[in-house]
Amino acid sequence: MPSVVILISGRGSNLQALIDHATQTSEYQIRAVISNRPKAAGLDLARAAGLPTAVLDHTAFDSREAFDAALAEQIDRFDSDWVVLAGFMRVLTPGFVQRYLGRLINIHPSLLPAFPGLKTHQQALDAGVRVHGATVHFVTPELDHGPIVDQAVVQVLPGDTAETLAARVLKLEHVLFPRALADLCSGRLRWSADQTTQTVQGALAAPLLIEMMNKGH
Ligand code: GAR
Repeated sequence: MPSVVILISGRGSNLQALIDHATQTSEYQIRAVISNRPKAAGLDLARAAGLPTAVLDHTAFDSREAFDAALAEQIDRFDSDWVVLAGFMRVLTPGFVQRYLGRLINIHPSLLPAFPGLKTHQQALDAGVRVHGATVHFVTPELDHGPIVDQAVVQVLPGDTAETLAARVLKLEHVLFPRALADLCSGRLRWSADQTTQTVQGALAAPLLIEMMNKGH
């Protein structure tokens, strides 16, 4: 069974969705959960699921390079096929990204390439877009720009705030992320790169994930 190490920084709701999917389907096995924050609530979720956990407090390191080297050492202990960033709020060094290129994925709360970086829901509101969403993508050295694995779409509603939008997007993230990971683990989707382009090839197991506003449709 394909194996996964999951990196978190906080709440861990995506982690929980990934745990639940692994339990229900056996499409991948979670080997460990690693947090850069000792108090991340997601660590408790991992422990409750009986998963090995590790904490690597980034504030104890002098440089990004030193932290990323220690992080790689921890990850490699678990010898996993995939490294999954589930709300891991650290910019990674090019050396780290290169080490896991093609097996390192992230979930980002916007329809990339729109709105990379932070405060994505406010960025979407400020831009006046009609649709917003989340993206699972491969991690490459350029922040939030790697090949797109799958996306989920929500409608921006009159009166939406960054909070209401975040809540609706998060609900879809919990469906999107496990199924994108499963599509990669099964080989239905695969990283494809030549000298000029990097894309994800293959077919999604399920249709594009679009929030349905009217339950009857
Ligand atoms: C999620 O919305 C995820 O998309 C986002 O952080 C949140 C983590 O929530 N990730 C990023 O912004 C990455 N740049 P969670 O801890 O409850 O899964």
